[in-house]
Amino acid sequence: MDIRENRLYLGGIAASELVEEFGSPLYVYEEETFRRRARELLEAITYPHREIKYACKANTNIEVMKIFREEGMSIDAVSPGEVYAALKAGFSADQILFTTNNATHEEIEFGVQQGVMINVDSLSQLRFMGEHHPGTRVCVRINPNVGAGHHDHVITGGPESKFGIDYTQVDRIRELSGTYELGVAGIHQHIGSGILQPDKFIEAMNVLLETAEKIEGLSFIDFGGGFGVPYREEERRMDVQVLGRKVSDEFERFCRSYGSELKLVVEPGRYLVAEGGFLLATVTSIKEGQRHRFVGVNSGFNHLVRPAMYGSYHPILNAQKVDGSRIPQTIAGNLCESGDTFTRDEEGIVDRDLPSFSEGDVVAILNAGAYGFSMASLYNTRPRPAEVLVKDGRARLIRKRETIEDLVGA
Ligand code: LLP
Repeated sequence: MDIRENRLYLGGIAASELVEEFGSPLYVYEEETFRRRARELLEAITYPHREIKYACKANTNIEVMKIFREEGMSIDAVSPGEVYAALKAGFSADQILFTTNNATHEEIEFGVQQGVMINVDSLSQLRFMGEHHPGTRVCVRINPNVGAGHHDHVITGGPESKFGIDYTQVDRIRELSGTYELGVAGIHQHIGSGILQPDKFIEAMNVLLETAEKIEGLSFIDFGGGFGVPYREEERRMDVQVLGRKVSDEFERFCRSYGSELKLVVEPGRYLVAEGGFLLATVTSIKEGQRHRFVGVNSGFNHLVRPAMYGSYHPILNAQKVDGSRIPQTIAGNLCESGDTFTRDEEGIVDRDLPSFSEGDVVAILNAGAYGFSMASLYNTRPRPAEVLVKDGRARLIRKRETIEDLVGA
Protein backbone atom coordinates (compact mmCIF):
# COMPACT_ATOMS: atom_id res chain seq x y z
CA MET A 1 0.00 0.00 0.00
CA ASP A 2 1.04 3.57 -0.38
CA ILE A 3 -0.41 6.96 0.36
CA ARG A 4 -0.52 9.64 -2.35
CA GLU A 5 -2.14 13.01 -1.90
CA ASN A 6 -3.68 11.74 1.32
CA ARG A 7 -5.40 8.84 -0.44
CA LEU A 8 -4.83 5.12 -0.06
CA TYR A 9 -3.46 3.23 -3.07
CA LEU A 10 -3.33 -0.56 -3.29
CA GLY A 11 -1.12 -2.17 -5.90
CA GLY A 12 -0.88 1.27 -7.53
CA ILE A 13 -4.66 1.86 -7.74
CA ALA A 14 -6.69 4.23 -5.55
CA ALA A 15 -8.85 2.26 -3.12
CA SER A 16 -11.86 4.40 -4.07
CA GLU A 17 -11.38 3.49 -7.75
CA LEU A 18 -11.31 -0.20 -6.86
CA VAL A 19 -14.63 0.21 -5.08
CA GLU A 20 -16.05 2.10 -8.06
CA GLU A 21 -15.02 -0.68 -10.41
CA PHE A 22 -15.72 -3.80 -8.34
CA GLY A 23 -18.28 -2.61 -5.79
CA SER A 24 -18.28 -2.60 -2.01
CA PRO A 25 -17.55 -4.26 0.35
CA LEU A 26 -14.46 -5.65 -1.31
CA TYR A 27 -11.43 -7.71 -0.37
CA VAL A 28 -8.27 -6.50 -2.11
CA TYR A 29 -4.97 -8.41 -2.11
CA GLU A 30 -1.58 -7.06 -3.10
CA GLU A 31 0.32 -9.73 -4.97
CA GLU A 32 3.70 -8.09 -4.37
CA THR A 33 3.25 -8.14 -0.60
CA PHE A 34 2.36 -11.85 -0.66
CA ARG A 35 5.44 -12.64 -2.74
CA ARG A 36 7.71 -10.49 -0.58
CA ARG A 37 6.63 -12.30 2.59
CA ALA A 38 7.08 -15.68 0.89
CA ARG A 39 10.62 -14.87 -0.25
CA GLU A 40 11.52 -13.46 3.15
CA LEU A 41 10.60 -16.72 4.86
CA LEU A 42 12.24 -18.93 2.26
CA GLU A 43 15.46 -16.96 2.67
CA ALA A 44 15.24 -16.89 6.47
CA ILE A 45 15.47 -20.67 6.76
CA THR A 46 19.09 -21.28 5.91
CA TYR A 47 18.94 -25.09 6.28
CA PRO A 48 18.98 -26.17 2.63
CA HIS A 49 16.63 -29.14 2.83
CA ARG A 50 13.54 -27.14 3.82
CA GLU A 51 9.96 -26.89 2.72
CA ILE A 52 7.34 -24.26 3.43
CA LYS A 53 3.77 -25.43 3.38
CA TYR A 54 1.29 -22.58 3.05
CA ALA A 55 -1.46 -23.16 5.65
CA CYS A 56 -4.20 -22.25 3.22
CA LYS A 57 -6.94 -21.90 5.83
CA ALA A 58 -5.71 -18.32 6.19
CA ASN A 59 -6.81 -17.48 2.65
CA THR A 60 -8.15 -20.20 0.39
CA ASN A 61 -8.65 -18.19 -2.75
CA ILE A 62 -7.26 -20.37 -5.52
CA GLU A 63 -5.44 -17.49 -7.22
CA VAL A 64 -3.74 -16.68 -3.92
CA MET A 65 -2.74 -20.31 -3.47
CA LYS A 66 -1.27 -20.30 -6.98
CA ILE A 67 1.04 -17.44 -6.01
CA PHE A 68 2.57 -19.55 -3.25
CA ARG A 69 2.88 -22.52 -5.62
CA GLU A 70 4.85 -20.28 -7.98
CA GLU A 71 7.05 -19.26 -5.04
CA GLY A 72 7.94 -22.93 -4.50
CA MET A 73 5.74 -23.70 -1.55
CA SER A 74 3.51 -26.68 -0.85
CA ILE A 75 0.27 -26.87 1.18
CA ASP A 76 -1.09 -27.70 4.59
CA ALA A 77 -4.80 -28.46 4.27
CA VAL A 78 -7.23 -29.17 7.11
CA SER A 79 -10.37 -30.33 5.33
CA PRO A 80 -11.43 -32.12 2.17
CA GLY A 81 -12.43 -28.69 0.84
CA GLU A 82 -8.92 -27.35 1.30
CA VAL A 83 -7.40 -30.48 -0.28
CA TYR A 84 -9.72 -29.99 -3.25
CA ALA A 85 -8.86 -26.29 -3.50
CA ALA A 86 -5.14 -27.07 -3.40
CA LEU A 87 -5.47 -29.62 -6.21
CA LYS A 88 -7.45 -27.05 -8.21
CA ALA A 89 -4.67 -24.52 -7.61
CA GLY A 90 -2.29 -26.93 -9.32
CA PHE A 91 -0.50 -28.50 -6.36
CA SER A 92 0.28 -32.17 -6.86
CA ALA A 93 -1.01 -34.64 -4.28
CA ASP A 94 2.48 -35.20 -2.91
CA GLN A 95 2.73 -31.48 -2.13
CA ILE A 96 -0.31 -31.58 0.15
CA LEU A 97 -0.40 -32.61 3.80
CA PHE A 98 -3.90 -33.26 5.11
CA THR A 99 -3.98 -32.36 8.80
CA THR A 100 -7.11 -33.96 10.17
CA ASN A 101 -8.50 -32.98 13.56
CA ASN A 102 -11.56 -35.04 14.52
CA ALA A 103 -12.10 -35.89 10.86
CA THR A 104 -14.60 -38.58 9.88
CA HIS A 105 -13.45 -41.83 8.30
CA GLU A 106 -15.01 -40.67 5.03
CA GLU A 107 -12.92 -37.49 5.12
CA ILE A 108 -9.73 -39.44 5.73
CA GLU A 109 -10.69 -41.81 2.91
CA PHE A 110 -11.16 -38.79 0.64
CA GLY A 111 -7.60 -37.74 1.40
CA VAL A 112 -6.24 -41.23 0.81
CA GLN A 113 -8.09 -41.49 -2.52
CA GLN A 114 -6.62 -38.16 -3.61
CA GLY A 115 -3.16 -39.50 -2.76
CA VAL A 116 -2.30 -36.88 -0.14
CA MET A 117 -0.43 -37.73 3.04
CA ILE A 118 -2.60 -37.90 6.15
CA ASN A 119 -1.34 -36.07 9.21
CA VAL A 120 -2.82 -38.34 11.86
CA ASP A 121 -4.18 -36.47 14.90
CA SER A 122 -4.99 -39.31 17.33
CA LEU A 123 -4.07 -42.91 18.14
CA SER A 124 -7.48 -44.03 16.91
CA GLN A 125 -6.86 -42.36 13.54
CA LEU A 126 -3.49 -44.11 13.41
CA ARG A 127 -5.23 -47.42 14.04
CA PHE A 128 -7.83 -46.61 11.38
CA MET A 129 -5.06 -45.94 8.88
CA GLY A 130 -3.38 -49.19 9.90
CA GLU A 131 -6.52 -51.28 9.58
CA HIS A 132 -7.63 -49.81 6.26
CA HIS A 133 -4.38 -48.80 4.61
CA PRO A 134 -1.59 -50.93 6.09
CA GLY A 135 1.82 -50.18 4.71
CA THR A 136 1.13 -46.51 3.91
CA ARG A 137 3.24 -43.58 5.02
CA VAL A 138 1.71 -41.10 7.42
CA CYS A 139 2.64 -38.03 9.40
CA VAL A 140 1.78 -37.93 13.10
CA ARG A 141 0.78 -34.75 14.92
CA ILE A 142 2.26 -34.44 18.39
CA ASN A 143 1.09 -32.21 21.23
CA PRO A 144 4.41 -31.11 22.76
CA ASN A 145 2.66 -29.73 25.86
CA VAL A 146 3.77 -26.24 24.89
CA GLY A 147 1.34 -23.67 23.49
CA ALA A 148 1.38 -20.03 22.43
CA GLY A 149 -0.78 -17.57 20.55
CA HIS A 150 -2.51 -14.20 20.47
CA HIS A 151 -5.68 -15.53 22.12
CA ASP A 152 -6.76 -18.64 24.08
CA HIS A 153 -8.87 -19.76 21.11
CA VAL A 154 -5.82 -20.15 18.90
CA ILE A 155 -3.38 -21.86 21.28
CA THR A 156 -3.18 -25.33 19.79
CA GLY A 157 -0.54 -27.01 21.96
CA GLY A 158 -0.44 -27.64 25.71
CA PRO A 159 -2.75 -29.26 28.24
CA GLU A 160 -5.95 -27.49 27.09
CA SER A 161 -5.47 -28.34 23.45
CA LYS A 162 -7.54 -30.92 21.58
CA PHE A 163 -4.88 -31.39 18.91
CA GLY A 164 -2.37 -34.13 18.35
CA ILE A 165 -1.10 -37.11 20.32
CA ASP A 166 0.48 -36.24 23.64
CA TYR A 167 4.24 -36.43 23.34
CA THR A 168 4.41 -38.91 26.25
CA GLN A 169 2.53 -41.49 24.13
CA VAL A 170 5.28 -42.00 21.60
CA ASP A 171 5.59 -45.69 22.56
CA ARG A 172 1.97 -46.25 21.47
CA ILE A 173 2.74 -44.57 18.14
CA ARG A 174 5.65 -46.96 17.63
CA GLU A 175 3.59 -49.97 18.66
CA LEU A 176 0.66 -49.19 16.37
CA SER A 177 2.80 -48.26 13.40
CA GLY A 178 4.82 -51.44 13.94
CA THR A 179 1.72 -53.64 14.11
CA TYR A 180 0.35 -52.27 10.84
CA GLU A 181 3.67 -51.59 9.12
CA LEU A 182 2.75 -47.95 8.75
CA GLY A 183 5.70 -45.80 7.83
CA VAL A 184 5.91 -42.74 10.04
CA ALA A 185 7.36 -40.41 7.44
CA GLY A 186 7.05 -37.29 9.51
CA ILE A 187 6.06 -35.85 12.83
CA HIS A 188 4.29 -32.56 13.20
CA GLN A 189 3.21 -29.94 15.68
CA HIS A 190 1.46 -26.60 15.53
CA ILE A 191 1.42 -24.87 18.90
CA GLY A 192 -0.65 -21.79 18.08
CA SER A 193 -1.18 -18.72 15.99
CA GLY A 194 -0.02 -15.12 16.15
CA ILE A 195 3.27 -15.78 17.95
CA LEU A 196 5.52 -12.74 18.08
CA GLN A 197 7.97 -14.12 20.67
CA PRO A 198 10.03 -16.94 19.17
CA ASP A 199 11.04 -18.53 22.54
CA LYS A 200 7.93 -20.71 22.75
CA PHE A 201 8.44 -21.87 19.20
CA ILE A 202 11.98 -22.95 20.05
CA GLU A 203 10.85 -24.58 23.30
CA ALA A 204 8.25 -26.65 21.45
CA MET A 205 10.73 -27.42 18.71
CA ASN A 206 13.03 -29.02 21.27
CA VAL A 207 10.24 -31.20 22.64
CA LEU A 208 9.41 -32.36 19.12
CA LEU A 209 13.06 -33.11 18.37
CA GLU A 210 13.31 -35.18 21.57
CA THR A 211 10.21 -37.06 20.44
CA ALA A 212 11.68 -37.52 16.97
CA GLU A 213 14.74 -39.24 18.43
CA LYS A 214 12.46 -42.08 19.51
CA ILE A 215 10.99 -42.68 16.04
CA GLU A 216 13.01 -44.41 13.35
CA GLY A 217 12.89 -43.78 9.63
CA LEU A 218 11.56 -40.23 9.60
CA SER A 219 12.01 -38.17 6.46
CA PHE A 220 10.67 -34.82 7.69
CA ILE A 221 9.73 -32.86 10.79
CA ASP A 222 7.03 -30.21 10.53
CA PHE A 223 7.16 -27.51 13.21
CA GLY A 224 3.87 -25.90 12.21
CA GLY A 225 3.14 -22.25 11.61
CA GLY A 226 2.08 -19.48 13.94
CA PHE A 227 4.48 -16.66 13.01
CA GLY A 228 2.74 -13.45 13.96
CA VAL A 229 2.60 -10.12 12.20
CA PRO A 230 2.30 -6.73 13.89
CA TYR A 231 -1.27 -5.42 13.93
CA ARG A 232 -0.67 -2.41 16.18
CA GLU A 233 1.83 0.29 15.36
CA GLU A 234 3.73 -0.30 18.57
CA GLU A 235 4.12 -4.04 17.94
CA ARG A 236 7.54 -5.11 16.72
CA ARG A 237 7.88 -7.33 13.69
CA MET A 238 9.27 -10.74 14.55
CA ASP A 239 12.80 -11.14 13.30
CA VAL A 240 12.30 -14.10 10.98
CA GLN A 241 15.96 -14.04 9.95
CA VAL A 242 17.08 -14.65 13.51
CA LEU A 243 14.42 -17.30 14.10
CA GLY A 244 15.10 -18.98 10.75
CA ARG A 245 18.81 -19.23 11.48
CA LYS A 246 18.25 -20.54 14.99
CA VAL A 247 15.76 -23.16 13.83
CA SER A 248 18.10 -24.17 11.00
CA ASP A 249 21.12 -24.53 13.31
CA GLU A 250 19.25 -26.60 15.88
CA PHE A 251 17.80 -28.77 13.15
CA GLU A 252 21.16 -29.36 11.55
CA ARG A 253 22.56 -30.42 14.92
CA PHE A 254 19.63 -32.77 15.40
CA CYS A 255 20.09 -34.35 11.96
CA ARG A 256 23.74 -35.08 12.70
CA SER A 257 22.80 -37.04 15.82
CA TYR A 258 19.77 -38.66 14.14
CA GLY A 259 22.06 -39.81 11.36
CA SER A 260 20.06 -38.60 8.39
CA GLU A 261 19.41 -35.32 6.68
CA LEU A 262 15.71 -34.84 7.27
CA LYS A 263 13.52 -32.22 5.68
CA LEU A 264 12.66 -29.21 7.84
CA VAL A 265 9.06 -28.12 7.31
CA VAL A 266 7.13 -25.10 8.57
CA GLU A 267 3.57 -24.18 7.68
CA PRO A 268 2.76 -20.51 8.07
CA GLY A 269 -0.56 -18.98 7.07
CA ARG A 270 -0.95 -15.52 8.56
CA TYR A 271 2.63 -14.41 7.98
CA LEU A 272 2.25 -14.85 4.24
CA VAL A 273 -1.12 -13.22 3.65
CA ALA A 274 -2.22 -10.96 6.52
CA GLU A 275 -0.52 -7.75 5.52
CA GLY A 276 -1.27 -7.95 1.81
CA GLY A 277 -5.04 -8.00 2.38
CA PHE A 278 -7.51 -5.13 2.83
CA LEU A 279 -11.24 -5.07 3.43
CA LEU A 280 -12.78 -1.99 1.81
CA ALA A 281 -16.24 -0.94 2.97
CA THR A 282 -18.39 2.14 2.42
CA VAL A 283 -19.80 4.48 5.05
CA THR A 284 -23.59 4.24 5.08
CA SER A 285 -24.50 6.40 8.07
CA ILE A 286 -23.02 8.48 10.85
CA LYS A 287 -24.75 8.97 14.17
CA GLU A 288 -23.92 10.55 17.51
CA GLY A 289 -24.88 8.25 20.37
CA GLN A 290 -24.68 8.97 24.10
CA ARG A 291 -21.17 7.60 24.30
CA HIS A 292 -19.90 7.01 20.80
CA ARG A 293 -19.87 8.50 17.35
CA PHE A 294 -20.93 5.53 15.20
CA VAL A 295 -19.62 5.38 11.66
CA GLY A 296 -21.77 2.68 10.08
CA VAL A 297 -20.42 0.68 7.13
CA ASN A 298 -21.84 -1.88 4.69
CA SER A 299 -19.87 -4.80 6.14
CA GLY A 300 -19.60 -6.48 9.51
CA PHE A 301 -18.31 -9.50 11.38
CA ASN A 302 -19.84 -11.64 8.66
CA HIS A 303 -16.91 -10.47 6.51
CA LEU A 304 -14.16 -9.98 9.10
CA VAL A 305 -14.87 -11.73 12.37
CA ARG A 306 -11.52 -11.24 14.12
CA PRO A 307 -12.45 -8.12 16.14
CA ALA A 308 -15.75 -9.64 17.32
CA MET A 309 -14.30 -13.10 17.91
CA TYR A 310 -10.95 -12.35 19.54
CA GLY A 311 -11.13 -8.62 20.23
CA SER A 312 -8.43 -8.28 17.57
CA TYR A 313 -7.09 -4.91 16.56
CA HIS A 314 -6.97 -4.05 12.85
CA PRO A 315 -5.63 -0.69 11.66
CA ILE A 316 -8.36 1.33 9.92
CA LEU A 317 -8.04 4.23 7.47
CA ASN A 318 -10.31 6.67 5.75
CA ALA A 319 -9.12 5.78 2.25
CA GLN A 320 -9.87 9.25 0.86
CA LYS A 321 -8.53 11.22 3.81
CA VAL A 322 -5.76 9.23 5.42
CA ASP A 323 -4.51 12.14 7.49
CA GLY A 324 -6.49 14.97 9.04
CA SER A 325 -7.61 16.15 12.42
CA ARG A 326 -8.69 13.14 14.38
CA ILE A 327 -11.75 12.50 16.50
CA PRO A 328 -12.73 9.40 18.50
CA GLN A 329 -15.10 7.19 16.50
CA THR A 330 -16.55 3.70 16.44
CA ILE A 331 -16.58 1.91 13.12
CA ALA A 332 -19.67 -0.28 13.22
CA GLY A 333 -20.99 -2.96 10.89
CA ASN A 334 -24.50 -3.53 9.57
CA LEU A 335 -25.40 -6.74 11.43
CA CYS A 336 -28.04 -7.18 14.12
CA GLU A 337 -25.68 -7.45 17.11
CA SER A 338 -24.02 -4.77 19.22
CA GLY A 339 -20.78 -6.75 19.11
CA ASP A 340 -20.59 -5.91 15.42
CA THR A 341 -17.95 -3.19 15.64
CA PHE A 342 -14.51 -3.20 14.04
CA THR A 343 -13.03 -0.95 16.74
CA ARG A 344 -13.21 -3.05 19.87
CA ASP A 345 -11.42 -5.38 22.23
CA GLU A 346 -12.79 -8.40 24.08
CA GLU A 347 -14.65 -6.24 26.59
CA GLY A 348 -16.42 -4.00 24.10
CA ILE A 349 -16.10 -0.86 22.01
CA VAL A 350 -12.79 0.99 21.97
CA ASP A 351 -13.11 4.27 20.07
CA ARG A 352 -10.43 4.98 17.49
CA ASP A 353 -9.00 8.44 16.79
CA LEU A 354 -9.49 8.80 13.04
CA PRO A 355 -10.05 11.63 10.58
CA SER A 356 -13.77 12.33 10.20
CA PHE A 357 -15.85 10.39 7.70
CA SER A 358 -18.73 11.37 5.46
CA GLU A 359 -21.37 9.06 4.02
CA GLY A 360 -19.99 7.37 0.90
CA ASP A 361 -16.37 7.44 2.08
CA VAL A 362 -14.34 4.28 1.70
CA VAL A 363 -13.10 2.72 4.93
CA ALA A 364 -10.05 0.47 4.64
CA ILE A 365 -9.49 -2.23 7.24
CA LEU A 366 -5.86 -3.33 7.09
CA ASN A 367 -4.11 -6.66 7.72
CA ALA A 368 -7.24 -8.45 6.58
CA GLY A 369 -5.64 -10.95 4.19
CA ALA A 370 -5.44 -13.75 6.77
CA TYR A 371 -8.56 -15.22 8.35
CA GLY A 372 -10.70 -12.54 6.71
CA PHE A 373 -12.62 -13.93 3.77
CA SER A 374 -11.79 -17.49 4.86
CA MET A 375 -13.79 -16.96 8.08
CA ALA A 376 -16.61 -15.01 6.44
CA SER A 377 -20.12 -16.28 7.10
CA LEU A 378 -23.58 -15.99 5.66
CA TYR A 379 -25.02 -14.43 8.80
CA ASN A 380 -28.04 -12.20 8.26
CA THR A 381 -28.20 -13.69 4.75
CA ARG A 382 -25.76 -11.13 3.44
CA PRO A 383 -23.58 -12.19 0.52
CA ARG A 384 -19.81 -12.36 0.83
CA PRO A 385 -17.66 -9.70 -0.87
CA ALA A 386 -15.81 -10.02 -4.15
CA GLU A 387 -12.03 -10.55 -4.03
CA VAL A 388 -9.59 -8.67 -6.23
CA LEU A 389 -5.86 -9.15 -6.79
CA VAL A 390 -3.85 -6.02 -7.56
CA LYS A 391 -0.39 -5.57 -8.99
CA ASP A 392 1.43 -2.75 -10.83
CA GLY A 393 -1.69 -0.66 -11.33
CA ARG A 394 -3.77 -3.58 -12.62
CA ALA A 395 -6.65 -5.27 -10.85
CA ARG A 396 -8.06 -8.75 -11.48
CA LEU A 397 -11.30 -10.12 -10.08
CA ILE A 398 -10.43 -13.45 -8.44
CA ARG A 399 -13.77 -14.24 -6.86
CA LYS A 400 -17.12 -12.86 -7.91
CA ARG A 401 -19.32 -11.13 -5.38
CA GLU A 402 -21.90 -13.53 -4.05
CA THR A 403 -25.55 -12.70 -4.73
CA ILE A 404 -28.60 -13.19 -2.57
CA GLU A 405 -29.75 -15.80 -5.07
CA ASP A 406 -26.50 -17.73 -4.49
CA LEU A 407 -27.25 -17.76 -0.79
CA VAL A 408 -30.89 -18.60 -0.79
CA GLY A 409 -30.50 -21.11 -3.58
CA ALA A 410 -34.01 -20.59 -4.88
N1 LLP B 1 -0.90 -25.37 10.74
C1 LLP B 1 -1.97 -25.79 11.44
C2 LLP B 1 -2.16 -27.20 11.69
C3 LLP B 1 -2.88 -24.83 11.93
O1 LLP B 1 -3.93 -25.25 12.63
C4 LLP B 1 -2.68 -23.46 11.66
C5 LLP B 1 -3.62 -22.46 12.15
C6 LLP B 1 -1.56 -23.09 10.89
C7 LLP B 1 -0.69 -24.08 10.45
C8 LLP B 1 -1.27 -21.67 10.49
O2 LLP B 1 -1.17 -20.79 11.54
P1 LLP B 1 -0.69 -19.30 11.26
O3 LLP B 1 0.70 -19.37 10.67
O4 LLP B 1 -1.64 -18.69 10.32
O5 LLP B 1 -0.71 -18.63 12.58
N2 LLP B 1 -8.54 -17.59 13.07
C9 LLP B 1 -7.41 -17.24 13.91
C10 LLP B 1 -6.20 -18.09 13.61
C11 LLP B 1 -6.45 -19.57 13.76
C12 LLP B 1 -5.31 -20.41 13.31
C13 LLP B 1 -5.62 -21.86 13.41
N3 LLP B 1 -4.62 -22.73 12.91
C14 LLP B 1 -7.13 -15.75 13.77
O6 LLP B 1 -7.80 -15.08 12.99
O7 LLP B 1 -6.28 -15.22 14.47
